[in-house]
Amino acid sequence: MTTAAALSSLARLRGVGVSFGDRVALTGVDLDVPGGTLTVVAGPNGAGKSTLLEVVAGVREPTSGTRTASTTIAFVPQRTSVPDGLPVTVRDVVTVGAWGRVGRWRPLDRRARAAVDEALERLHVADLAPRSFAALSGGQRQRALLAHGLARGADLLLLDEPTTGLDADSAQRIRTTLLDEAARGTGVLAVSHDPLLLDAAHLVVRLEGGRVVRGGAGDAEARCGTVAS
Ligand SMILES: Nc1ncnc2c1ncn2[C@@H]1O[C@H](COP(=O)(O)OP(=O)(O)OP(=O)(O)O)[C@@H](O)[C@H]1O
Ligand SMILES: [Mg+2]
Repeated sequence: MTTAAALSSLARLRGVGVSFGDRVALTGVDLDVPGGTLTVVAGPNGAGKSTLLEVVAGVREPTSGTRTASTTIAFVPQRTSVPDGLPVTVRDVVTVGAWGRVGRWRPLDRRARAAVDEALERLHVADLAPRSFAALSGGQRQRALLAHGLARGADLLLLDEPTTGLDADSAQRIRTTLLDEAARGTGVLAVSHDPLLLDAAHLVVRLEGGRVVRGGAGDAEARCGTVAS
């Protein structure tokens, strides 16, 4: 991949605002998510980071401004709650990701089955594959959801605090996986307070009070280079 291709924007926000009643969560946000790059969104609690990620994912409509994204997106949210009795295994969750390759409810072809196995291995959840997803710990669940995102073969990977609460090995595995994905040309956008993930990022976007104070669209100083350049 050329640097120009790597830097082409996979998602773009312009002048995005989000309000919940009279509470303003985001205001005037301009953001580009380039391919081949790990971008980390940092900022204090309540700054609007999760809301920003939801807008990029297309699961929350902005109150104002525009969003464009022309890609396959995988989104690992900050918190997931599922009923205890949900009859879904870890392998089922990752398999649903692979439907992105063959179409919903369609049997997986050989390539898609291999993508499921590879994603389970990369996140070290292969041994958990037959287990109930609802019975996983929080950290195991985060890894299974990231495996789901990888199996999808998404161009844009969005993660909300993917290493929070994980043990050191699991957190390192996730950091490595995100950098590997960026090196393959994926646009990776992660919300995080993790200093090691911030150190590894090619671009850091800082949000405060719903505004981008560093690293928004056109802020070249915050750009630390790309994997593919
Ligand atoms: N569904 C909602 N209804 C009302 N207000 C909300 C809703 N979701 C978020 N907010 C408000 O929007 C603001 C931004 O919230 P958001 O969850 O995006 O912050 P955050 O930066 O992700 O915080 P944290 O670091 O704690 O995860 C906060 O003031 C929050 O209270
Ligand atoms: Mg949040």
